[in-house]
Amino acid sequence: MADSSPASFLTQANALLRKNLVFQKRNIWSNIRLITIPFFLCLLLLVVQMLFNTQFNDVHGQCGCKEKTCDLRYSTSEQAAFCAIPNPPQWTPMLQIPAPQYRVATTYPSHSSPATFLFTGNNQSLGKILMGNMYSDLSEFDGELANYVLGSSSFPAYTNYMDSAFISDIPIYNIQNECSPNSSFSILIHQSPIAFPKKVNCVQGLNLWRNSFSNVNNELFKGYRKGNPDEKINEFAAAFDFQNTNGNNLNVCVWYNSTYKNDTVVRPMALIRVPRLVNQASNAYLEFLKGSETKILFEYVKEMPKPETKLSLDIASLIGPLFFTWVILLLFPVILTTLVYEKQQRLRIMMKMQGLGDAPHWIVSYTYFLLISILYMLCFAIFGSVIGLNFFRLNDYSIQLVFFLICINLQISVAFLAAAMFSDVKTATVIAYIYVFGTGLLGIFLFQFFLEDPLFPRGWIIAMELYPGFSLYRGLYELSQSAFSGDYRGIDGMRWRDFENGMKEVTCIMLIEWLLLLVLAYYIDQITYSGKHPLFFLLKSSSKKKQHHFCQSQTSKVVIEMEKSDVCQEREKVEHHLLESTGDCAVLCNNLKKVYSGKDGNPQKLAVRGLSLALPQGECFGMLGPNGAGKTSFINMMTGIIKPSSGTAFVQGLDILTDMDRIYTTIGVCPQHDLLWEKLSGREHLLFYGRLKNLKGSVLTQAVEESLRSVNLFHGGIGDKQVGKYSGGMKRRLSVAISLIGSPKVVYMDEPSTGLDPASRKSLWDVVKRAKRKGAIILTTHSMEEAEILCDRIGIFVDGSLQCIGNPKELKSRYGGSYVLTMTTSEEHEKEVEQLVHNISMNAKKIYRTAGTQKFELPKQEVKIGEVFQAVEKAKTMFPVVAWGLADTTLEDVFIKVAQTS
Ligand SMILES: *[C@@H]1O[C@H](CO)[C@@H](O)[C@H](O)[C@H]1NC(C)=O
Ligand SMILES: *[C@@H]1O[C@H](CO)[C@@H](O)[C@H](O)[C@H]1NC(C)=O
Ligand SMILES: *[C@@H]1O[C@H](CO)[C@@H](O)[C@H](O)[C@H]1NC(C)=O
Repeated sequence: MADSSPASFLTQANALLRKNLVFQKRNIWSNIRLITIPFFLCLLLLVVQMLFNTQFNDVHGQCGCKEKTCDLRYSTSEQAAFCAIPNPPQWTPMLQIPAPQYRVATTYPSHSSPATFLFTGNNQSLGKILMGNMYSDLSEFDGELANYVLGSSSFPAYTNYMDSAFISDIPIYNIQNECSPNSSFSILIHQSPIAFPKKVNCVQGLNLWRNSFSNVNNELFKGYRKGNPDEKINEFAAAFDFQNTNGNNLNVCVWYNSTYKNDTVVRPMALIRVPRLVNQASNAYLEFLKGSETKILFEYVKEMPKPETKLSLDIASLIGPLFFTWVILLLFPVILTTLVYEKQQRLRIMMKMQGLGDAPHWIVSYTYFLLISILYMLCFAIFGSVIGLNFFRLNDYSIQLVFFLICINLQISVAFLAAAMFSDVKTATVIAYIYVFGTGLLGIFLFQFFLEDPLFPRGWIIAMELYPGFSLYRGLYELSQSAFSGDYRGIDGMRWRDFENGMKEVTCIMLIEWLLLLVLAYYIDQITYSGKHPLFFLLKSSSKKKQHHFCQSQTSKVVIEMEKSDVCQEREKVEHHLLESTGDCAVLCNNLKKVYSGKDGNPQKLAVRGLSLALPQGECFGMLGPNGAGKTSFINMMTGIIKPSSGTAFVQGLDILTDMDRIYTTIGVCPQHDLLWEKLSGREHLLFYGRLKNLKGSVLTQAVEESLRSVNLFHGGIGDKQVGKYSGGMKRRLSVAISLIGSPKVVYMDEPSTGLDPASRKSLWDVVKRAKRKGAIILTTHSMEEAEILCDRIGIFVDGSLQCIGNPKELKSRYGGSYVLTMTTSEEHEKEVEQLVHNISMNAKKIYRTAGTQKFELPKQEVKIGEVFQAVEKAKTMFPVVAWGLADTTLEDVFIKVAQTS
């Protein structure tokens, strides 16, 4: 009824995906919990931001003044930037004069170096006249500051609410044609309600004629301080080009030094002291035309009034990297533990034994984790944007998308790699959480510290970024910084044009690392998990030769070992099959051996010493043997969990050494310990494995239904309960059902009936009997009854090798051959009983004796049952017989005998 071709890649992927989705649905609460973590962290950030805003603005909002209105006397310029200023003060306009030590050095006799102005134009004599009119000649203060040409070497402020010239310690200069020794004076700066004095020093204005525009330009260019403080420094205050100015028109061009605007990255531009220069030129021209009485007074500059503004510092972006690192890394433990769980519970090997290939497993698991991660990150980014975190809103969404996508891909491949190193879920969980929180904390306290230290070598930073946690941190840090400065300057955060240096470097590192780790993880998985040779991708064809070599080496061994005739026969049968290469055997084991190398000085352990077995289609072979005889090692070899040390086996004509992947599609396994998902129901297990066995549609549902019914898991909806709630026996039955679904050609059952009540055991036997018709079954058991009922042939396996093989009847007659007589009397009559038995049979053997009860073994050929009855009846008349019995040998007796004699 089942399609016998192995399941295609898509079918397998589909099966795995559906199973995972159901699994995830069962885990819905932990999933919801997981997704709410970003919500909580985002909310926490929002609260921190709000607290910060109110606190910060309260302290600073006071501005050293009442009612949030600034009294500029007491406030710093920082505070003034945020307070309401309804009546801005007026300030006399200034010129920018280089500080004394930077001015052009001349030999001009003066008590201080002059402020130098260059000038040029078409008419030198006119230029000289105009430049002569530039400065005031007043040496006494006449009460009107606008009459003086004032300058300062202080850096201009960012607004005109306060002119730094008047509030700093740097003196104000009065520029004059000629300084007399006592030409300094003091002025009162009127700032309602008080006035404070400020010294005004005289500085000479030196005008130097240059012949052309380009001369001026060259000289100004050379004036730049070239980084060397000892170099001769030439700074000019300003330069004028009067061009074609004449009696009828004034054309003037002014050079000023824009470096003073001090344009650092985070700050907006400062003002430049230019207007007064223009005013000077026009005043000079007016004076040339109309005489010194005519003036345009430039009285003051005044900023426009402004309302109170809030200080906005995007604190959320500053501490963001720590939180966001945690949020993103939190997926890591989830992925890792899922992977390690399947490994620890040996679910993956189970899936593999039922035919799931490595490639579908990898691709589906990867895609699946990727989807979950994408969903998680989407929730995170959408929620962050909705509650207004600048980190998300200001940075370009496409940059975030690319960056996060690379991050989660890298994270998944790291998890796959890490999963190869852990075999225990608890350890993996602990280490994963240490990784999450440790990375965040190390990031903010160590890595960021290095990052912000400009002296720290960049090469080391890159080396640190090779650690995936730090590269994630770096990326988040860059995005946060962009968001922070964007918010401060009122512009956008990161755009693709700003995608450079740190961000670009870190994205490249992550991208390359992702690809490398993925390949590495797959490679390590292949050699550790699938047990391939470390150079498996190089050796494709050499495995065939090796197998041939095994075949030859073992033939010589046979001769040496003394074997029982039946076992020898089996070996000959196997050799015959191998020579004829007839494909009618379901299983053909050829001298299969397993040696565990001795550890800590212990000798080697031979678990299986050369097993040869030929199993035709439709046979059920029972393997009996004491604990530790090597039955499970044998099954593990046959199912590819361990590799044989030598010898090989063919399943349906396929070699277990080379074709395990194809063998998996035709076998079913019921392992000794149930390998089941606690969260999935019995029906879901069967659906999953049925799909792996290429069952589809109605055939699948029908097969699952039948399976459930046959193992008594159908009634009362047990099949739809989660396996975690099953009793041991129910799990066992489910395991059997799983091994039989899809009618596999060969089924291995390792102690299928342990822990079952008699009724379930009975129904289980019916199932196995029915399955026997479709394929061969290899079964290990401790129940003789079971072996007798189910098995066509039985092999007793002791200490790694078969001691005997045959059908139950043969074995019994071969090893039995005796009756067991049990008789119970009082103790004083024991002697008489012994005598009686010897009368019946000369060679009777006493095998057991306790408190009047004795057991004797009577060889069959010497005894007639009738004689025994007569003898007992006679004995009863002589002494009281409490109880007596005569029994034929059971398989159990055979087993005990074989186990003891070998
Ligand atoms: C230069 O300017 C002076 C003063 O106005 C004037 O007398 C003279 O003619 C001008 N020279 C030329 C060449 O225009
Ligand atoms: C302009 O100002 C800067 C900063 O004070 C100074 O380094 C530079 O030399 C000045 N340039 C000229 C041409 O004076
Ligand atoms: C430019 O402004 C910054 C910030 O106010 C200040 O620290 C720095 O000293 C200024 N630069 C100069 C050359 O004054």
